[in-house]
Amino acid sequence: MTARRIRLGVNVDHVATIRNARGGLSPDPVRAALLAIEAGADGITAHLREDRRHIRDADMARLKAEISKPEISKPLNFEMAATEQMLDIALQTKPHAVCLVPERRTERTTEGGLDVIGGHDHLVPFVDELNRAGIRVSLFIEPSAEAIDAAASIKAPVVELHTGAWCHAVEVGELEAAEREFARIVAAAAHTTERGLECHAGHGLDYATARRIAALPQIVELNIGHFLVGEAVFIGLAESIRAMRRAIDEGAGAA
Ligand code: PXP
Repeated sequence: MTARRIRLGVNVDHVATIRNARGGLSPDPVRAALLAIEAGADGITAHLREDRRHIRDADMARLKAEISKPEISKPLNFEMAATEQMLDIALQTKPHAVCLVPERRTERTTEGGLDVIGGHDHLVPFVDELNRAGIRVSLFIEPSAEAIDAAASIKAPVVELHTGAWCHAVEVGELEAAEREFARIVAAAAHTTERGLECHAGHGLDYATARRIAALPQIVELNIGHFLVGEAVFIGLAESIRAMRRAIDEGAGAA
């Protein structure tokens, strides 16, 4: 039996973080995106934050232009907060997909999923407009049945389950908490397909956690960034992506 191929979206935000540390042009996140695709990425993910701390407007436009060229033709997944300014930029950029994420200026990274229950009425028009523009919308949510039900009622076709709490517990060796968090992800992934939603996951994944989550039969796409850019320091970006590809394929094969 051949293993399912789970899509690997490589997030290039932190290549831009390194570039911005010196204020110049390198390392270029677009070059990283092209190399990632050559090494086995199925798509590129980038988060245009309101404070532009890593990816900038011009990066998003260049990413879209370069990876859409016919000889490359890979999807761009535009992560953004649900604001009018970001919606305008997304409609202009026309990415393959938009992932709506919560955003707080003081956070170091995207902490927690979208408040899809309290924020239901705010999110509906954004999802509606993106759906009408032919952009596939996903909502970055906590792995819970309530959040999935709310995402379904908002009419998002895809959810991305936040794996950050699980990965953090694994990283710091809190094994009981890690197993509790993983059990939530397993139950949530099963619930996504019961509600007819496509299931993605991401945040904090490394080789071992990606291998394990890839064994869940509902997972269609994983979005991974920080760990791959960190590994690139030691083994190079292409090799880190090839190793991640192998880990995901091994996990999916064991399903
Ligand atoms: N998915 C979403 C929605 C995210 O916000 C992020 C972080 O930007 C990721 C995936 C990737 O997380 P990490 O960089 O920890 O792999």
